Amino acid sequence: DKARFTLDPAFTIGEVNPRLFGSFVEHLGRCVYTGIFEPGHPEADEAGLRTDVLELVRELGVTAVRYPGGNFVSGYKWEDSVGPAEDRPRRLDLAWRSTESNRFGLSEYIGFLKKIGPQAEPMMAVNLGTRGVAEALELQEYANHPAGTALSEQRIAHGDKDPFGIRMWCLGNEMDGPWQTGHKTAEEYGRVAAETARAMRQIDPSVELVACGSSNQSMPTFAEWEATVLAETYDLVDYVSLHAYYEPQDGDVDSFLASAVDMESFIENVVATCDHIGARLKSKKKINLSFDEWNVWYMSRWHEIENSAERDWPEAPRLLEDNYSVMDAVVFGSLLIALLRHADRVTVACLAQLVNVIAPIMTEPGDPAWRQTTFFPFAQASRYGRGEVLDVRVDSPTYETRKYGETDLLHATAVRAEDGSVTVFAVNRSRTEALPLEVTLNGLELTSVVEHGVLADADPDARNTLAEPDRVAPRAVQGTTLQDGTLGAVLEPLSWNVIRLA
Ligand code: AHR
Repeated sequence: DKARFTLDPAFTIGEVNPRLFGSFVEHLGRCVYTGIFEPGHPEADEAGLRTDVLELVRELGVTAVRYPGGNFVSGYKWEDSVGPAEDRPRRLDLAWRSTESNRFGLSEYIGFLKKIGPQAEPMMAVNLGTRGVAEALELQEYANHPAGTALSEQRIAHGDKDPFGIRMWCLGNEMDGPWQTGHKTAEEYGRVAAETARAMRQIDPSVELVACGSSNQSMPTFAEWEATVLAETYDLVDYVSLHAYYEPQDGDVDSFLASAVDMESFIENVVATCDHIGARLKSKKKINLSFDEWNVWYMSRWHEIENSAERDWPEAPRLLEDNYSVMDAVVFGSLLIALLRHADRVTVACLAQLVNVIAPIMTEPGDPAWRQTTFFPFAQASRYGRGEVLDVRVDSPTYETRKYGETDLLHATAVRAEDGSVTVFAVNRSRTEALPLEVTLNGLELTSVVEHGVLADADPDARNTLAEPDRVAPRAVQGTTLQDGTLGAVLEPLSWNVIRLA
């Protein structure tokens, strides 16, 4: 009943793209307003950005930040969000049945990224729900053209002399979903995505474009959607998107703990679909995956209130403010492991979302910001998960799950940094039993355990809150050994582990 695997630098998956540690800011609930932006807050800077939040975003290690949606983007009029704030129109946001004040817009988003630091990169979505090719081009010209045209001069007149230099663009959002404003069939979307991509490349051939894949693997159109869209767009786009959210369904916690099984099969099925279209087209090009929305999300709670009468056009309402437990953080860590295990093809990923809305960082108006349980696995993975992913094939005791059948108790990956040090990320899915782990190191000159950190708790339902923001945090584990090329550790029940070797 021990779990085992071997690490060997000769067997690798691929290099981790820093963009794997992206996140997502949508105009939804309080992600923007009273989240990252709250003029008048004691910690707000001259631009109204909360510096306490900025500090936590840096600590989290976020890279690419997708914006402005999400479902919101399918009604987005970018021109409402630029120019003097007092002149910007208030609009109905159909996606979230809210009122959008536009006090925070495109320029403020770019300003926010600059303040995070050089690691932060824009990832802008265009509206292919209620709009099309022309508006995408106008936005691109406004944002990226240096000067000398009506729209670039407008940006300069608005106070942004330097172009924003946005390289990554999402061609719409979840266009396969019937809930999406301007929802399309795969044929309809494939055509408009292809023509938008072709036109955007006429402005700048070097843009990186993401075509919408499926909203999740259970969509009735899954795989056929990707195949149809890629048949139209294969030579014109760089990525296809994947979205997935997990929660315990009908109280089935054991399957919830194995959510990464679904995530990994989703990734592998999309890779297969991309490569099938590539083969059909006799193309040498490979399409990469942008997993640009992923998280634990108690979506069923949201559906309960989705259509209630109080939801009539409030401004920055409290929506999707899930408070995450230790168990949620363990599943979340396992989802990070799934992404790292496929770093050869998943080269962009965005944790949905960044602040307040299904988020690792929470705020209250006027009060300090605090870290959810999920903050820690993300911050650790972003910090130590840079380098080459080693191919980890586990031999593990198993347990039974309703959704996935017999499932490994151990879920793991390992990343080798440039300096030769290795970090093992491992989850024990057992709710009751500790899991002894033995890792054989081949051809790795590692002699010591720098640190074994764990996120686990006697109460798997423990959470951080505004009143008790430090209730849950990772702690050090004693007794983990590295002797004669063998790592020995014990993984506590229901735990996320980071074992650093040098
Ligand atoms: O992240 C919340 C929502 O989930 C996004 O707006 C949408 O793209 C997805 O359905």
